[in-house]
Amino acid sequence: MHTQEFFKLAWETYTNTSPQAAHIHNLIRCEGEQVINDHIAYRTLSHSHINMEKIINYFKDHGYKQKGDYHFETKKLSAVHLEHPRQYPKIFISEYDINNLTPDSQDICHEFLEEVTSFSLSDLLLQKRNWSLSFENYQKLKEESEYVSWVASLGLIPNHFTIAVNQLKRFNTLEKIIEFLKVHKIEFNQVGGEIKGTEKAYLRQASTLAEKRKIMFSDGEYEIPTCYYEFAQRFKINTGEYFQGFLENSADKIFESTYEK
Ligand code: NI
Repeated sequence: MHTQEFFKLAWETYTNTSPQAAHIHNLIRCEGEQVINDHIAYRTLSHSHINMEKIINYFKDHGYKQKGDYHFETKKLSAVHLEHPRQYPKIFISEYDINNLTPDSQDICHEFLEEVTSFSLSDLLLQKRNWSLSFENYQKLKEESEYVSWVASLGLIPNHFTIAVNQLKRFNTLEKIIEFLKVHKIEFNQVGGEIKGTEKAYLRQASTLAEKRKIMFSDGEYEIPTCYYEFAQRFKINTGEYFQGFLENSADKIFESTYEK
């Protein structure tokens, strides 16, 4: 699949799961702005069928190069970011080490992950969860890790897209875009402050709260947090180029955009 086609479908998957993202995108475009993606984030688990290495290789096949790597000790997560030499957005991939789960929860994960072998990675990245999961098991996983329950319930679809705030004309700071979207009743993640990061650290970020939507489980339909939209304002480093990395402290708080209040 051509990279451009992949991102078009990824956006469709993301906005089908969270229509609020399409609404936000339209609100900004209606102000005459062109929306550019800073990065797209994926979440996965440390299981050979879907691990971070597989997703990294998928994007490398699309011309991406691996750049930074990150660690989130308390959340048991590691992450990398990849950059494309040309026009495509950065990719941020995080992975939870399932060895930290209790044996019961590991069994739940192994059970549904046995079902994914018949799918290609592009199927997995572009289709909502292709495995069966009960709401009961979702809740069990959630008690141990909100992150794991998110992947188990939604699969490997984009967790968030991120608007490059620098590229906007009228709303070129986080304060301006947040103020505009709040008028339209959009709620933001307040964990660690509404705006995370600083100009000194060359990156400031903010994100909406994940939209709650009804998702089908094997024992019924339940409303759960799905995807959120992020905003990144980057600053220039000594070389005169924009900082392209991520800040562990900020990302750590942004992961909590899918937590229920
Ligand atoms: Ni992000």
